[in-house]
Amino acid sequence: MGKVITMKKIVVFTGAGVSADSGIATFRDSDGLWANYRIEEVCTPEALRNNRAKVVEFYNLRRRESLTKKPNVGHYAIASMEEWADVVVITQNVDNLHEQAGSTRVVHLHGELMKLRSERNPNLIYPIEGWEQSMDATAEDGALLRPHIVFFGESVPMFESACSIVAEADILIVVGTSLAVYPAASLVYYVRDRQVPIYLVDPGNPDTAMIRNPLTHVKERGAIGVPQLVEQLKNELAK
Ligand code: APR
Repeated sequence: MGKVITMKKIVVFTGAGVSADSGIATFRDSDGLWANYRIEEVCTPEALRNNRAKVVEFYNLRRRESLTKKPNVGHYAIASMEEWADVVVITQNVDNLHEQAGSTRVVHLHGELMKLRSERNPNLIYPIEGWEQSMDATAEDGALLRPHIVFFGESVPMFESACSIVAEADILIVVGTSLAVYPAASLVYYVRDRQVPIYLVDPGNPDTAMIRNPLTHVKERGAIGVPQLVEQLKNELAK
């Protein structure tokens, strides 16, 4: 009988930083989006109710910008791990750069820019062609369409399945997130036990105070640190 090779389960949890090297601004860095926009004006259910035009315009701008961006070597390195590991990407990002780079299993915790959904029925989700959501576009149930984005103050429907995925991981890699937004940030606590190693690639200082697992902080930007780490893990695991 041939040798049974079980691939390691690697979960990659990403934030805005993984797309920073593709030229997409993060949220909380000094040049980040939240330095130029007020969250309560563009990213809450109240804003959508009271100032729909501003919210739709904000996401139209994000969509238009993202259509000009390409994956960077960090996204590609993450996708390449599928050749020798069982990989799931859980991203807080609403861009589709992981998919463009070739990752086949991507969970979007905070929604997707390139989709719209009915304001009434969250299960009526539609892909959008191009960047522009027109203000009066409706879903088949007659309700107005809204960006398929999880706003502040809304629940995170994919959170539970993301927790189950993290609980299966042999290795957790975290890339480019300040770990400041909950519940997403708490995913790092859902690893199976204290032995599961956690690698963090981020040039800044994410909030890791609560992490009790063995933690390796690669203090580099994604385009440098992710390919390095992937190479190291490949050498260790893909024997
Ligand atoms: N490579 C990797 N990481 C980087 C880079 C880079 N080139 N540049 C910056 N970073 C890191 C920063 O050091 C920071 O830790 O990316 C992180 C960005 O943090 P945030 O701006 O807070 O983004 P994120 O953690 O993804 O935000 C979470 O907040 O507003 C929301 O819904 C939005 O999903 C988002 C959530």
